[in-house]
Amino acid sequence: MEPEPLKTLLRSEYLSFGKPDFSEEEIAAVTRVMRSGWVGMGSETLAFEKELSAYIGAPEVVTVNSCTSALFLALLVEDIGPGDEVIVPSLTWCATANAALYLGATPVFCDVDPHSMCVTPQSIVAQLTARTKAVVVVHYGGYAVDVEALRRALPEDVAIVEDAAHALGARYPDGSRVGASGNTVCFSFYANKNLSTADGGAIALSDQVKAERLRRLRMSGMDSNAWSRYTNPSTTFVAGLAELGYKMNYTDLQAAIGRVQLRRLDAMADIRQQIVVRYCNRTEALGWGVDFQRAVRDDCHARHLLVGIFDLARTGITRNDLLLALRARNIGASIHYQPLHTMPLYSDSVRGELSVTEWLAERILTLPIGALMTYDDVDYVTSQLAELIAGHRCHE
Ligand SMILES: Cc1ncc(COP(=O)(O)O)c(C=O)c1O
Repeated sequence: MEPEPLKTLLRSEYLSFGKPDFSEEEIAAVTRVMRSGWVGMGSETLAFEKELSAYIGAPEVVTVNSCTSALFLALLVEDIGPGDEVIVPSLTWCATANAALYLGATPVFCDVDPHSMCVTPQSIVAQLTARTKAVVVVHYGGYAVDVEALRRALPEDVAIVEDAAHALGARYPDGSRVGASGNTVCFSFYANKNLSTADGGAIALSDQVKAERLRRLRMSGMDSNAWSRYTNPSTTFVAGLAELGYKMNYTDLQAAIGRVQLRRLDAMADIRQQIVVRYCNRTEALGWGVDFQRAVRDDCHARHLLVGIFDLARTGITRNDLLLALRARNIGASIHYQPLHTMPLYSDSVRGELSVTEWLAERILTLPIGALMTYDDVDYVTSQLAELIAGHRCHE
């Protein structure tokens, strides 16, 4: 592609995708925990779990070291193993499908809806077989999938696990928050997520027995952890080890950040929503016809990603060229995602009809969004896009 002559002033600072919004409060909370002498998993983690449970409206929350671990453990407690099939969308981050592979199960890829970019009851039911044991629903971009409708469409013995890495704070159609469905629901607190603790994750659920098992599994299989051994005089040093577990626990340092982020989450969500509205108004005003991922109501979308469909026929420039040109203009645009069935690891995967996924794969582009962004940032991105698109259209 010929480099474009720049008409507007190039911003000097890179506008990164998913910059975390940390205030002095998070910094003070980390300092407090560091000074306390207890930075591993302890009282701060327990408090964060309680506060998350109240925010989400889920009786049980178990924190872990990542959403990747959360997905793995969630499928493990659903007894997924070799010979089982787990239906997942191909349009997702690799962790969603990898979780099934870790357990020796077979991920089966299904298609998504062209507007919500999420799985639908129809796209999942089309892949059901006698071996289907679970479905992992991805709330793509932060859009809350109607899991009640999916439950009605599936046989009772097929478990629903939710990959809510993007969707903390979003609401299902019935108004409850993602995570309160009673399914096993996995969240990410990775660096670029709406609630960030650098890394980390959590599992929300209602089944107390599964939650207790998850608490052991994240701590090597031990039925007590260091905090309870050191603080509860009636706990002997010797803990029970009945099952092989993993070292996947969270830490108090992360929980200190998470507790402040959680208090600020709704305010940060409001800013994200305003940023989306600004993008939509500006793109409409500039009149180059880009569709964004659709949400039926504002509160059903956590606005983690702002994904647009940039169709060559309408823009005159390929999505990949547009991505490179935006990056050259200091705009951290990105692609979510290259579909998993096109990756070498999954080249022999079991898959159904994936025509919508493949159509989207060539056209989707994620624009920067975050609670630290300003309207000026949005106007810069949309002006650069307008310039690039207009430049290519007039060369047609
Ligand atoms: C849809 C989805 N699922 C799972 C994950 C894994 O999250 P983590 O990085 O916390 O392991 C991510 C990470 O970005 C994701 O986007």
